[in-house]
Amino acid sequence: MTDQAKRPRFLSGVQPSGRLHLGNYFGALRQHIALQDEGEAFYFIANYHAMTTVQDPGALSRATLDVALDYLALGLDPRKAVFFRQSDVPEVAELAWVLSCVTGKGLLDRATSYKDKVARGITPSMGLYAYPVLMAADILIYRSNVVPVGEDQVQHIEMTRDMATAFNTAYGEVFPLPAHRLDAGAKVPGLDGQKMSKSYGNAIEIFEEGGALKKKVMSIVTDSTPLEAPKNPETCNVFALYRLVAPPAGAEEMARRYRAGGFGYGDAKKALLAAINDCFGPFREERKRLAREPAYAEGVLAEGGARARAEAQATMRRVREAVGLPPMPVEAAEASSPRKG
Ligand code: TRP
Repeated sequence: MTDQAKRPRFLSGVQPSGRLHLGNYFGALRQHIALQDEGEAFYFIANYHAMTTVQDPGALSRATLDVALDYLALGLDPRKAVFFRQSDVPEVAELAWVLSCVTGKGLLDRATSYKDKVARGITPSMGLYAYPVLMAADILIYRSNVVPVGEDQVQHIEMTRDMATAFNTAYGEVFPLPAHRLDAGAKVPGLDGQKMSKSYGNAIEIFEEGGALKKKVMSIVTDSTPLEAPKNPETCNVFALYRLVAPPAGAEEMARRYRAGGFGYGDAKKALLAAINDCFGPFREERKRLAREPAYAEGVLAEGGARARAEAQATMRRVREAVGLPPMPVEAAEASSPRKG
């Protein structure tokens, strides 16, 4: 068994395009962070991808730092995972070009995320159209085995396999075919009971606190069962959130109270607020500490970027050779330099 078969390489990216919310945490982040103990984890902040929707330079760099602080505060361990900014590995943009030359336009025409985004009013730029090609490059350049993602990204991983196969067929086996790993997909309802999503405006942010948090929790939509009547926890948005943030015994106890009657939604919301504070309080403190010394997060990203880039450059040497491009000029210079020889 090769080393890689024993320790799969996990890779995932997150776009820096707004504050992360409980849906992101329970649907994805929490599991991604746990995977750092199960294999070689590469996680990056997809700032090139974010440019398809964010065109404000200050907002892009702030959001990038915010995501870094979020992940570090929530337990990403830079000694275990390689954590970096997408743009610190510019080779990925080169690979996206190479892949786009073996990718039929028809494949991209079938991408549902592009159509969804355009329907939501996002400008149909070439970048937005080619988004899946850059994503394939992200995955392939690190020779990733497993890509943990949500349901909405599965088509992109399938397209990645198509692109890798097209490349391998044209030029010889360079890329292992990656598989997706579906995030547990905890159903996290938003304030209105629809799936929690930034674009629905129904999200509770992970690091929200105080009055703003209270106001949101109190506004969660419930039915109009009177206080005295027994209630069904399984159909209640407040309970669904409580179950995620509270310890299992606490959730059982609350379910019992719902069924017994005499327990109102206002009571349930107060318990939920307290449970959110217990669950995320320590992370909030850690995030504040990290935010006071951004040089630390910056250093983590820079170091992760250097490690990721070395991997990417090794892949690109093979790619350039396979397609008939000369080595990168700087490497050519190094190779012929007497000091190196
Ligand atoms: N498209 C992903 C999202 O919006 C982010 C992403 C970019 C990604 N590149 C990736 C995810 C590579 C996994 C692997 O969620």
